[in-house]
Amino acid sequence: SGPKPLTGAHVLVTAGPTREPLDPVRFLSNHSSGKQGYAIAGALADLGARVTLVSGPVSIAPPRGVDMVPVETARDMLKACETALPADVFISVAAVADWRPAISSSKKLKLKDAGETLPSLTLSENPDILATLSKKRKNRPGLVIGFAAETHDVEELARAKMKRKGCDWIVANDVSGDVMGGSENEIALVTKDEIERWPRMDKLAVARQLADRIAQTIGHPGKN
Ligand code: C5P
Repeated sequence: SGPKPLTGAHVLVTAGPTREPLDPVRFLSNHSSGKQGYAIAGALADLGARVTLVSGPVSIAPPRGVDMVPVETARDMLKACETALPADVFISVAAVADWRPAISSSKKLKLKDAGETLPSLTLSENPDILATLSKKRKNRPGLVIGFAAETHDVEELARAKMKRKGCDWIVANDVSGDVMGGSENEIALVTKDEIERWPRMDKLAVARQLADRIAQTIGHPGKN
């Protein structure tokens, strides 16, 4: 049966949400389930890749044969990604929190701390992990893939995002329907010179198809 198409390749995948602490018991986060990123990590492992899955907190189990690195914050996620390099492919599926509380208290905040007024929240910008890895001069993965959740003008926005982030492909999710947290996804794959609209399908099928496209593109890195 020969070697699997991604034998010898190292693929780095981020998935899930990040958690940005306010204090030891509170955080800012989002509803990402991790399903799509975990399915992609599993599909790549099935094709023979060595997969590092850097994941925020989710309630699903990592796929068999994948090295999972658990993280909480965006800054930890970036560090774990940098540590995992070099990689042949980077796929940024995580729903990274754009902001974190500027100050994270080491003690649980109390209502009285704010005095007479309501407490207010000051935010700091988190690092953009996709842009950081895309723009690396040393150790940039050969194929960098970002995700984009859009409700309209999918191709135009994906192209703008591709340029801004410096990535090679964008998997554009049409989130105008009910895909968030669901088991199906409707995507368009935007590359440098084309756009492929894929029919609505199971997240596992999206993962398998994306893994196949990656294998076609990078071939057998162990062999050439
Ligand atoms: O800018 P936007 O959040 O729409 O971009 C989405 C893409 O960027 C996804 O691939 C996501 O994983 C990645 N991203 C990131 N770090 C951030 C924000 C987004 O890696 N701080």
